[in-house]
Amino acid sequence: MISRNDPCWCGSGKKYKKCHYPQTPPFTNDLAKIYLKQFGILIKTPHQIEKIRKASKTAATILKLLCEKAQKGITTLQLDQYSRKLHKEMNAIPAPLNYGHPPFPKTICTSINEVICHGIPEERPLLEGDIINIDVTSIVDGYYGDCSKMVMIGKVSEDKKRVVETSYECLMESIAICKPNVMLYEIGDVIETIAKKHHCSVVDQFVGHGIGVGFHEPPQVAHHYNDLAIPLAPGMTFTIEPMINAGVKEAVIDPKDQWTARTKDLKPSAQWEHTILITDNGHEILTLAD
Ligand code: MF3
Ligand code: CO
Ligand code: CO
Repeated sequence: MISRNDPCWCGSGKKYKKCHYPQTPPFTNDLAKIYLKQFGILIKTPHQIEKIRKASKTAATILKLLCEKAQKGITTLQLDQYSRKLHKEMNAIPAPLNYGHPPFPKTICTSINEVICHGIPEERPLLEGDIINIDVTSIVDGYYGDCSKMVMIGKVSEDKKRVVETSYECLMESIAICKPNVMLYEIGDVIETIAKKHHCSVVDQFVGHGIGVGFHEPPQVAHHYNDLAIPLAPGMTFTIEPMINAGVKEAVIDPKDQWTARTKDLKPSAQWEHTILITDNGHEILTLAD
């Protein structure tokens, strides 16, 4: 039985007594109990999965519309304003806004060229030759969906094209192996092997994550070689979001805004992200737009 001072079952990281207490964990089956106790992983109920499916579809739809707008001349601040409008229209809350410490100031992350992730929308127009990652996390009815895509602006350099294509291949090939009893570390194996084949490096300072009831739940989903021996199980919902660099893997966080993560050598970086569900015999990608 969960006690008041334990971490809350929802994965928030807060104490149970300060979070969902006295609401008990919404499941009955044994596997879910074991995963929560051993790994802190919340296996979702069919009801929660339905809600996460809806939030994920919303995030994917907003992301698709933002990517269509991401063309030469538009500023990332304008993309953020469009994201605010789309979230309102779809009765969704943008999860990044005021998230973390210091509070993230915008509703989406926009990461251009050498920015690995967590770029902050600003008054910089997109230029010919840029690559940009747009990352959308939406909350609908209290549940979360998280996804990101790359857009290439006009003709881009060979290095940029290579990281964009490699990170996409890393995401889709690692999703392809996901089914019950595959080990969590096998995701990192697939990603790092593909990245190496294309002479790219894999960022290890940021990871994918459980998601659904909270924004960032256990487990951490490492994209590099690792030994996290957790078997995937039906009802797990998590992201895979490989960050792939043309040069060195090291990230440096901007000391001024404390969010923007850039490659140490300022060479290009790219990332794609999906939220996925482990099903009884495979997986479902939840962040696909219609
Ligand atoms: N969406 C990012 C992720 O994939 C997290 C962004 S946190 C923010 O996990 F505060 F920068 F928005
Ligand atoms: Co994510
Ligand atoms: Co994201």
